[in-house]
Amino acid sequence: MDIGENGAEFVVVANRLPVDLERLPDGTERWKHSPGGLVSALEPFLRSHSGAWVGWPGVADADVSPFEDDGLLLHPVPLSAKEVEDYYEGFSNGTLWPLYHDVVAQPAFHRHWWNSYVRVNQRFADATAKIAAQGATVWVQDYQLQLVPAMLREQRPDLKIGFFLHIPFPPVELFMQLPWRTEIIRGLLGADLVGFHRPGGAQNFLWLARRLVGLEPSRGTVGVRTRPGVVQVGDRTVRVGAFPISIDSAGLDAVARRKETQARAKQIRADLGNPKRILLGVDRLDYTKGIDVRIRALYELIADGRVDPEDVTMVQLATPSRERVDHYKTMRQDIEQSVGRINGEFGRVGKPVVHYLHQSVNREELVAFMSAADVMVVTPVRDGMNLVCKEYVACRYDLGGALVLSEFAGAAAELTSAFLVNPHDLDGVKNALQAALDIDPAEGRRRMRALRRQVLTHDVDRWARSFLEALGTQTSV
Ligand code: ADP
Ligand code: G6P
Repeated sequence: MDIGENGAEFVVVANRLPVDLERLPDGTERWKHSPGGLVSALEPFLRSHSGAWVGWPGVADADVSPFEDDGLLLHPVPLSAKEVEDYYEGFSNGTLWPLYHDVVAQPAFHRHWWNSYVRVNQRFADATAKIAAQGATVWVQDYQLQLVPAMLREQRPDLKIGFFLHIPFPPVELFMQLPWRTEIIRGLLGADLVGFHRPGGAQNFLWLARRLVGLEPSRGTVGVRTRPGVVQVGDRTVRVGAFPISIDSAGLDAVARRKETQARAKQIRADLGNPKRILLGVDRLDYTKGIDVRIRALYELIADGRVDPEDVTMVQLATPSRERVDHYKTMRQDIEQSVGRINGEFGRVGKPVVHYLHQSVNREELVAFMSAADVMVVTPVRDGMNLVCKEYVACRYDLGGALVLSEFAGAAAELTSAFLVNPHDLDGVKNALQAALDIDPAEGRRRMRALRRQVLTHDVDRWARSFLEALGTQTSV
């Protein structure tokens, strides 16, 4: 679809643009790739189709006009410093993020945060209403913008509106804690299709539509990409379904196969001192990711004499994230302390046990790390999907490597040939890590083949097509 004179036929609305404005200390500005799974998943899809993307450029008070970036029309929505504090760091990441991730950290409920959330959602809706063509498809993304579907429908009943939640939708008992629970459900019901990763999220939402809004949703079980729930809202039918997100599997596979990538992987191994085994963690530095769990498990395995630090090295890549939010500050301190402890006790000069990089690396470098890693450790205490584990599988065209994966990541339902662990059960995590480190190569290949069958056939394109088809949009977009 094109961005015609009469507006855009296909619009993605997300809190963040796919690129982030970075202000350097010398006052210059540059654009860099935005962090997180939403952008990793949607960007390759959007770039191979035309459309517009409405989002925040990532810094406060940025006054940026719409611009084209490699075929994508980007429409920046500005946020003031106070809105970054109240809407983004506050309601989105101090209230909704912990509440939706099973209250693994305590959510805070503040009325001024909520008021800012309403105002900013309205701004996103207004910006979208202005640029969408008559009858266009608008695809609203994630927990930061749950009021946008209803706000947009109010102004533009002609639009086809989809909403997708990239994080878990919580159990109803937890959702009911939210003082603004009814407003959020009403906001989402403005969409024609509301999508979640897992059928459980869709069922919870349908239950809340009955309980909080007094509607009569369908009672059948929601399937994966099939049998969406249905709820009648006035004269509109809203569908509610499960659409597990994925990655650009073929793209990563192709990068992994490049000679330069394999050479870089070898170099990484050599730089680490050619250990027998490399463990790898790759995450945004977030308290839901269970980074502490894997460091503690490795610490105990070494202390128990089950793993020799001469043989095993861990690399933890951690993208800086939401650094002004309190829970993130404390978690960073805790993790950095535990890295110091394990290296202090079991490392030697030139050979730390854990190489911790509080940095983001580019795609080629990431694929090289994944190609070099014998065991990928993905241990979130709660994660909507988790793309890192799928990326690892896509990189292992050689059928090498083993995946340790938390049962509490949405991906666990699909990646059943991984070593699945309960991150709250430290002994279980230790056993799985050891089993993955010691895996028999033939058994490893068998597991990786099964994992790859799943990841290569269920890629992000299939995810987007299944969602847009359920929304009734031509998938040539
Ligand atoms: P979330 O969306 O919560 O951050 P996901 O696992 O779904 O978690 O997605 C994270 C994305 O960010 C993946 O594409 C992953 O490769 C990327 N990523 C995470 N940490 C890093 C890092 N240190 N360097 C480069 N990319 C990273
Ligand atoms: C997760 C969320 C996204 C978010 C990303 C990065 O993937 O689902 O909506 O963009 O994390 O977080 P940030 O707060 O930096 O946008």
